[in-house]
Amino acid sequence: MGGLVGSGFVLLSWVLFSPCFCSVDGLSKVRAVNLGGWLVVEGWIKPSLFDGIPNGDMLVGGLILVVHFVFLDGTQVQVRSVVLNKYVSAANGGGSNVTVDRDVASTWETFRLWRVSQNEFQLRCLGGEFLTSNSEDGLILATAREPLSTETFYIERNDERVHIKLLNGGYVQATNDHLLISTYQFQPGWDNNLATFELVIVANNLHGDYQLANGYGYERAKMVLEEHRTSFITASDFDFLSRHGINTVRIPVGWWITQDPYPPSPFVGGSLAALDLAFSWAQSYGLKCIIDLHAAPGSQNGMEHSASRDGSVDWPSPEYVSQTLEVIDFLATRYGGHPSLLGIELLNEPSAATVPLDVLVSYYTRGYQIVRNHSSTAYVILCQRIGNADPIELFQAGIGLSNVVVDLHYYNLFDPYFASMNSTQNIEFIYKNRAPQLQALKDANGPLVFIGEWVNEWDVQNASQYEYQKFGGAQLDVYANATFGWSYWTLKNDRMHWDFEWNIQNKYLLFTAAGQESNAQPILGYGRATYSGHLDGRGRRNPGVPNAPNPSNPPARRRPGTTRRHDRTVSSPSTTATAADGGTVTPPKGSVRFDCLGGGATAVSAARVGAAAGDSETEDVDEEKAIARHA
Ligand SMILES: *[C@@H]1O[C@H](CO)[C@@H](O)[C@H](O)[C@H]1NC(C)=O
Ligand SMILES: *[C@@H]1O[C@H](CO)[C@@H](O)[C@H](O)[C@H]1NC(C)=O
Ligand SMILES: *[C@@H]1O[C@H](CO)[C@@H](O)[C@H](O)[C@H]1NC(C)=O
Ligand SMILES: *[C@@H]1O[C@H](CO)[C@@H](O)[C@H](O)[C@H]1NC(C)=O
Ligand SMILES: *[C@@H]1O[C@H](CO)[C@@H](O)[C@H](O)[C@H]1NC(C)=O
Repeated sequence: MGGLVGSGFVLLSWVLFSPCFCSVDGLSKVRAVNLGGWLVVEGWIKPSLFDGIPNGDMLVGGLILVVHFVFLDGTQVQVRSVVLNKYVSAANGGGSNVTVDRDVASTWETFRLWRVSQNEFQLRCLGGEFLTSNSEDGLILATAREPLSTETFYIERNDERVHIKLLNGGYVQATNDHLLISTYQFQPGWDNNLATFELVIVANNLHGDYQLANGYGYERAKMVLEEHRTSFITASDFDFLSRHGINTVRIPVGWWITQDPYPPSPFVGGSLAALDLAFSWAQSYGLKCIIDLHAAPGSQNGMEHSASRDGSVDWPSPEYVSQTLEVIDFLATRYGGHPSLLGIELLNEPSAATVPLDVLVSYYTRGYQIVRNHSSTAYVILCQRIGNADPIELFQAGIGLSNVVVDLHYYNLFDPYFASMNSTQNIEFIYKNRAPQLQALKDANGPLVFIGEWVNEWDVQNASQYEYQKFGGAQLDVYANATFGWSYWTLKNDRMHWDFEWNIQNKYLLFTAAGQESNAQPILGYGRATYSGHLDGRGRRNPGVPNAPNPSNPPARRRPGTTRRHDRTVSSPSTTATAADGGTVTPPKGSVRFDCLGGGATAVSAARVGAAAGDSETEDVDEEKAIARHA
């Protein structure tokens, strides 16, 4: 907590010179860009961060793909005896014995690695227990709650074949009566023998701060992260943003920021100094900051961007909730009086599957009070749950009295619903589903609405620049109606279509502040406790949406039965094979974000969205104007 003490002096000067938020020049609504992948690592945004991790140049001989594979925390594996031709299975997902008797691997046969070193691992079962050699007769059981040395296995590899050795030297072998036992005393060969197994990689989709730091080890991780934090985002990016019509940055941070410079292992300090710098750059370039708690202790969604170790979601236990409130208190104390602070987002993307609404509402209510204790004006931003949740649930929860914002993430991705849509259909979806939802939420007269994440990317293959312009333009057009504003995901990304700067420089996103100002009301009297009244959009052309859905009949409900792409990780026992798309790394920005709302009930005015490959530049005059306005 040294950072807290050290910041006292700085804080004082912030308070003294803190101007009133109500005089934000010409700033009407939030037009933000996320600084994703900076202070919270996401491997898909910058894969090279992981390039130097030893070792694991293991080639996984998948039938379709051959990928380089590094054993990092959370990698999901299945283990098959090459002699018995059966998979190792922890009955009921753990808690009892282990057998080698399954023809087909599913959830009971899937283990998540905890990395101890580059060759030593612990194997965690579905239910949370670890495989252990701690038994009288040498049997391997699935009964350990805590992984210690008897739960640590040394893995020797030869292509996809492995030997599994105890730290005390014995090799693990299958027996002819289908048990797993650790009494093989010789060095096994790589031929077909009972101590040789095939390791099948089921999923390798976690590349976050935990995997990076634990993969490199402290010293190297510190070097890698120092380099990343000082070079990935710099003052010149703030300059760029301020010159291109952006007025705010949303900055994801992890809970360990409060324990700078020495957070608990394996996390690496330094993110607090970087956040301080961001605030000073923001001040220099006239931007505002939203601090977004992206990773809570225990992980609120099991994804890499919440720094989950192995995909499990341990938030919200009472201890983690109070620890998280301390994080909010720390952030509000340190930045509550800073003139560049616009708001604090209490928690990014909690998972609906694991975080009950009442617990979340209680957390948000307490978090709101904590922020208010340090700032009467900072916006308190509440992120909608991801997964199967009703987008109106937070609007009805009555959290907080003033300057409350609900954050919805709008991606035309991460859901099979979008997979086969062409460009026209994607653009129609923005006008036909997103726009009426925003209207309904506005009409509900609750908290302000923030589209805190969206991107100019979709599942359409090989779309033209023109189609991207249409799609991006539609989103800018519609999201400008969000009462608080929007935030693009993300500033920089190896995948160029996600990269805001690339989109601007290459004219895939035709955005200027002027185009938005003509739409946006000067709505946000910053620091005023108003939700409505002056929040209506003004004089926009009608996008042809027939009737705005009635909020009492929430428009934004997900279609039942859809699954998130990234939820294919094992979740319930079944006898069918787990989808083995291991190795393919899809962007783990996961969430179905009310995509299917209203699921296509209303017909869209096709003229409204005449953007498609075949469109000529002159075909849809009205639409052309919409884009020109942003040019
Ligand atoms: C393993 O556990 C299952 C379920 O508890 C039981 O039916 C089975 O007999 C056990 N097998 C062995 C080899 O102990
Ligand atoms: C707000 O501050 C008061 C006075 O310091 C304190 O008693 C109270 O517990 C704080 N409330 C929260 C929610 O932190
Ligand atoms: C997209 O372009 C690539 C490279 O030109 C090509 O291989 C692929 O088949 C195209 N995909 C579609 C759906 O057209
Ligand atoms: C924005 O909101 C106004 C007022 O509700 C509405 O008339 C207009 O159609 C909306 N624009 C878009 C693009 O959704
Ligand atoms: C998109 O799909 C719709 C419905 O199948 C079709 O009418 C339309 O022509 C398609 N547009 C393009 C550009 O492929």
